[in-house]
Amino acid sequence: MFESNSLPKLVVLGTGGTIAGRSALPNDNIGYVAAQISVAALADGIPGLAAHVDCFELVCEQVAQIDSKDMSFEVWVQLARRVEQLQISPEVKAVVITHGTDTLEETAYFLSRVLSLHKPVVLTCAMRPASALNPDGPQNLLDALTVSKQAQAGVYVVCAGRVHSANCVQKVHPYRLDAFSSGDAGPIGFVEEDQVRWTAHAWDPIPTILNALQLPEAAAWPCVDIILNHAGADGRVVNALVQAGVQGLVVAGTGNGTVSSALQAALLKAQSAGVRVVLASRCTQGRVIACANEPWTLAINSNPVKARVDLLLSLMNSP
Ligand code: SIN
Repeated sequence: MFESNSLPKLVVLGTGGTIAGRSALPNDNIGYVAAQISVAALADGIPGLAAHVDCFELVCEQVAQIDSKDMSFEVWVQLARRVEQLQISPEVKAVVITHGTDTLEETAYFLSRVLSLHKPVVLTCAMRPASALNPDGPQNLLDALTVSKQAQAGVYVVCAGRVHSANCVQKVHPYRLDAFSSGDAGPIGFVEEDQVRWTAHAWDPIPTILNALQLPEAAAWPCVDIILNHAGADGRVVNALVQAGVQGLVVAGTGNGTVSSALQAALLKAQSAGVRVVLASRCTQGRVIACANEPWTLAINSNPVKARVDLLLSLMNSP
């Protein structure tokens, strides 16, 4: 699989994002184009990287080159299969993935649900493009490599010196460098000068739903959408989606997963027509707590985008 020397490999997979973005003006941190620079060029541009990885060999591979707002099932399938192959390769110590911040939490969670997790898988990113006066990507990539050398098997997200678990992490800010939070759980570690200081709680593995190597091609994935409860929410969106053949609906409910009476009626109708309905909360912190006689499945531990990943995989597993 690898041509070169016998050192264990740290494999960096590039998927694009702001970390690989370029702007015409160095002081422009928002008017840039994401996914312009190859992951190999990013690594080459970091002074001292060879010393940083010392007794490992760094191998860079470009899996995709996209702005992560355009993340697709095709790229997820390709990425998951490649990471799983690398996980089972005896030559590989760990995998790092460079990714846009916008859908990073979805990809991290998806991977945590389909990988057999023999090794650390560390996603990292940047909030400023590579062309910025003071880009954050190089330090984030170095930190991700540090975590990849020191972590146990699991899926991690590294940004702004913090280590988050794929289960809890969420993008919470559109601009600041420390754009991610693990909410009530907090980060599981901090990277400080090439050392990870782990917090008391470790990464909490969640069971794999479907192995990456058994994922169907993207065209065969079920249709699952997210809808929102809000003031004045009625059943029109649900009815239109059912008409369009949706197989699953995740509802970003208000508070403890509540929905308006009109939306509830439409959802119950959809559910009796065979659509799988899962209730999550649009709150960014805490968890939905089950009440007696819930008419639907509750996403107890996940936000709506992660609940959608679970529903997609569960529909693939048992349609
Ligand atoms: C992206 O998600 O690809 C663009 C935005 C970012 O990486 O911060």
